[in-house]
Amino acid sequence: MSTPRSNDRPKKQIHLAAHFPGVNNTTVWSDPASGSHIEFDSFVEFAQIAERGLFDFMFLAEGLRLREQAGEIYDLDVVGRPDTFTILAALAAVTDHLGLTGTINSTFNEPYEVARQFASLDHLSDGRAAWNVVTSWDAFTGENFRRGGYLPQGERYERAKTFLDAAIRLWDTWKGDEILADKTSGAFLSTPLSTPAPGAFEHHDSQFDISGRFNVPRSPQGRPVIFQAGDSEKGREFAAQKADAIFSRHSHLEDGQRFYVDVKGRLEKYGRRHEDLLILPAATFVLADTDAEAVELAREIRLQQVSPATAIKLLEQLWNRDLSDHDPDGPLPTVDPSENDDLIAKGRASARSHGDRLEQAERWRAISRAKGLSTRETIVEVTGRQSFIGSAETIADTIDTYVQNDAADGYILVSHITPGGLAPFVDHVVPLLQERGVFRTAYEGTTLRENLGLREPTR
Ligand SMILES: Cc1cc2nc3c(=O)[nH]c(=O)nc-3n(C[C@H](O)[C@H](O)[C@H](O)COP(=O)(O)O)c2cc1C
Repeated sequence: MSTPRSNDRPKKQIHLAAHFPGVNNTTVWSDPASGSHIEFDSFVEFAQIAERGLFDFMFLAEGLRLREQAGEIYDLDVVGRPDTFTILAALAAVTDHLGLTGTINSTFNEPYEVARQFASLDHLSDGRAAWNVVTSWDAFTGENFRRGGYLPQGERYERAKTFLDAAIRLWDTWKGDEILADKTSGAFLSTPLSTPAPGAFEHHDSQFDISGRFNVPRSPQGRPVIFQAGDSEKGREFAAQKADAIFSRHSHLEDGQRFYVDVKGRLEKYGRRHEDLLILPAATFVLADTDAEAVELAREIRLQQVSPATAIKLLEQLWNRDLSDHDPDGPLPTVDPSENDDLIAKGRASARSHGDRLEQAERWRAISRAKGLSTRETIVEVTGRQSFIGSAETIADTIDTYVQNDAADGYILVSHITPGGLAPFVDHVVPLLQERGVFRTAYEGTTLRENLGLREPTR
């Protein structure tokens, strides 16, 4: 599938973004170079590095509840994080161009509230707000919200669609020319308070039955840039129909190309163009002076990410049973995974991606036997590959090749060190991409939508 780019097509401009790491073992919080994941200074440093690198936006994931394993708080990774809107609003004040993308779920929130928050963020940031609409993983995640039960996947996407429709309806109740604020005449609004009055809305569907007045005047972008992050059939359809960009997991070449063709191929039936939806996978990187040093460094980082204790916890998530006595330096357990429904791990993504546990365990055993790996080494091998490893030249070349060959439109980079891990990329890889003419040398627009090259939304 990795056919070279046709020569007559102009080079694509690469989009880059920075993911402030969430709570998982990508982040090596115990590394001496790591800073706080909670204190505001870390967010400021991170955002300012991304803006120095002319990145399109920074990205915050969202977890609604502390993760647990066997009923205990999972504390091998970072635990807890401050609220998304509060962080992004504060960052709007210390950055000028960087987009501010927040992940906010549509399962446990209400459209009116979320629409107000994003419209407000868009105002405070002069048009730099983006919303990653997620449906969230499971009931455990949201038990601390009013909705006690949970929605099956189909209904979550139905709710996501109608939630977004309702939010768009609310944003569009203000056209942008209502505020006169004429101090002489004393008229605040330019239109008489008759129909259609600013903010007036009614929205009735299978999920929402709301009417009233939306109270935030039209924001610079009109509505935030919309991201989507689910990977299922329903998730991809939702993205093709509604989103401006997808945050995906498919950061490798062929895997990325398959995903790209699949999702872009769904746009036409919704009357949308190829360029109306950007594909931006999450990607990690390991950068060193030479390729050989980077390979060695990548190995050291994987061992930091999968400590002996983490290896056992990750093993338990597939085996779905207590393996606390298992030796991480010995072979994989001979006992089979428990097929019991009760997950030992709650509130985390990786535990859900295992599919058939027995089959997956057999795959891990086969890899372990073939390569002669211990339990920990097997976990290092099977639970994550770094996306880009090499010297700055190699990484710039790989990213450019992937983007030009439609494995992605750019990448949302996650560093294993917070907040400073992005700086070497900004200092060494970005200039090489600029030399190649595939990355900006200054922000082109004032809004995030302009910088991403997206069209104004139709009303
Ligand atoms: C790359 C990626 C990132 C995600 N990030 C989050 C997140 O930060 N918070 C969240 O609640 N759900 C997140 N999700 C979960 C999705 O919203 C969705 O609930 C989940 O993937 C199930 O939908 P699916 O079956 O379509 O994949 C993410 C999913 C993907 C694929």
